[in-house]
Amino acid sequence: MSYYKISDLEQYFKHYKKSVREPRKFWGKIAEENFLWYQGWEKVFEFEMIKGEIKWFLGGKVNIVKNCIDRHLSKRGDKPAIIFEPNSIEEKEQIITYNELYTRVAKMANVLRSQGVKKGDRVCIYLPMIPELAVAMLACARIGAIHSVIFAGFSAAAVNARVKDCGAKMIITADGSYRGAKTLQLKTIIDEAIKEETSVEKVLVVKRTGEEVSMKEGRDIWLAPLYEEAEETNIAEIMDSEDPLFILYTSGSTGKPKGMVHTTAGYMVQTAYTFNNVFHNNDDDVFWCTADLGWITGHSYLLYGALLNGATTVLFEGIPTYPDAGRFWSIIDKYKVTQFYTAPTAIRSLMTEDYEHVTKHDLSSLRVLGSVGEPINEEAWHWFNDFIGKKRCPIVDTWWQTETGSIMISPLAYVTPAKPTYATLPLPGIQAVLMGEKNTEITGNQVMGSLCIKFPWPSMARTIWGDHERYIKTYFSDFPGTYFTGDGALRDEVGYYRITGRTDDVVIVSGHNLGTAPIEDAINQHPAVAESAVVGYPHEIKGNALYGYITLKAEGTSRDRENVRKEINQLITSHFGPIGKLDKIQFVDDLPKTRSGKILRRILRSIATNEMDNFGDTSTMINPEVVQHIIDNKL
Ligand code: WTA
Repeated sequence: MSYYKISDLEQYFKHYKKSVREPRKFWGKIAEENFLWYQGWEKVFEFEMIKGEIKWFLGGKVNIVKNCIDRHLSKRGDKPAIIFEPNSIEEKEQIITYNELYTRVAKMANVLRSQGVKKGDRVCIYLPMIPELAVAMLACARIGAIHSVIFAGFSAAAVNARVKDCGAKMIITADGSYRGAKTLQLKTIIDEAIKEETSVEKVLVVKRTGEEVSMKEGRDIWLAPLYEEAEETNIAEIMDSEDPLFILYTSGSTGKPKGMVHTTAGYMVQTAYTFNNVFHNNDDDVFWCTADLGWITGHSYLLYGALLNGATTVLFEGIPTYPDAGRFWSIIDKYKVTQFYTAPTAIRSLMTEDYEHVTKHDLSSLRVLGSVGEPINEEAWHWFNDFIGKKRCPIVDTWWQTETGSIMISPLAYVTPAKPTYATLPLPGIQAVLMGEKNTEITGNQVMGSLCIKFPWPSMARTIWGDHERYIKTYFSDFPGTYFTGDGALRDEVGYYRITGRTDDVVIVSGHNLGTAPIEDAINQHPAVAESAVVGYPHEIKGNALYGYITLKAEGTSRDRENVRKEINQLITSHFGPIGKLDKIQFVDDLPKTRSGKILRRILRSIATNEMDNFGDTSTMINPEVVQHIIDNKL
């Protein structure tokens, strides 16, 4: 019996049971039957959850790129692997077949090797959504270098922190990038990010916008001349199952961003398995995931999961509203997209546009719709279902995280009956549980708790780069013996899960996880600001928006409040880009605090979200009188 494809609900339950009772057999069979190994593993897994020590397919030897490309060449060499849709509709698309992708990746891999990049070296990639980004990731993986993609909308300070943390030897960037009608100067941001002492030896520059850039002698090199001359074949590095594949940074509630480390074999097996089942993959499909490759969704489904299954995947450089708000729908029509995977924030903003943008285009190729990144509200779910899927396409509301590597809880298209706003059932292999006080599992249905997973799965992040202690503390300490997701969830009467949001201080704005602590840090740099607390509150388009409570220093109180507001948002933008801007800024005399001096963000969040009837336990508060004052002056 093969476990790779689930055909109906009954089979889902069968596979699920098997995966819990005999996880070695279940995953072992999937891994054995569907991938190319240089050498098989000795043990399917070994773990000690409390110590955050997890290993899968121990002793196996494999290269993920050989599985993404090489093994498809005999059967699917001429099939499109990547369809590149440029930002401008004037520019011609690129249809990159598996054969062509092989050549591009081989050449890029040879360039990287010629520039001294070796197995285990870290390479940061700061590129727009162009084919070179996908090719650079695959080239790194082919030669065993660890890629760390940094979203090309991040500021120099954010790049600096990431490059420093992982000790990158090389950065791959471009002169600039197109975003709708605008261009961004990427190379200038890199120059700024590494102007001081750095581990970076080489900066490889892709030409995209053709604008002037300064090239530092001995450090900066144009890709094109090296690429032209590079050999068209490349021998892949033989990797151990547990060799790191990539590092991807995600923000935490406190402190600096966490460099989540994903390793090779487990990530390969599970991204492929989940892609195949969640999206109901067929051989002639055209899959389109709108996420940037700088996020985990781009890594796992736009790229690895799709290619591992020999699928055709769309890579779109632009934005949903350029040249007009029908761009997404025109792309679906143009390439006859079958699976469309996007985020609630995109849906919410497109549903406010004129419906003619949709009706102008033929969307009849669509078979599956997907949503990821934050809870999808009911209104958006129905709009997506009625107007895009025309009520004939299942919607998969996929819940997962950068840390989990692949989809954990989701309907399987054409298998699991959907229920709006519910991520429904855990995938085979995922032992989801709800935990309550004192580390006890909450059993039964119609219950709520902290969402945890009590058994390891192949694509889990293995550590935080350079800080295993923090990895243990963040994920394995709150509920010892399980992995804690940081999210709350409820389980309904039939066992379906609904994610209720983060239980810590991370706010998801337009699908981007923003740690409030680093934003407060930035605000506090303003000379007039004494203290600040940032919380999220529901926002119609963005899912959540940020509300800042700010106390001013004595010398700041005489300043014009509007100017201070503007300056604070400018300061935030310079650190995080416009995504971190506060929608509301309330100046207050004091912030509610605990006796030990901790700001009670929970209470501020209740005020911002208008849930003021129950503040929970306020016994630790030292200054309860400030709360009423804050409420009276609420924006
Ligand atoms: C949230 C994105 C509700 C959740 C793949 C999670 C969701 C965080 C959903 C991870 C969903 C993601 N429904 N909430 N379908 N998908 N989330 O690391 O809070 O960018 O913990 O990974 O997004 O965000 P990340």
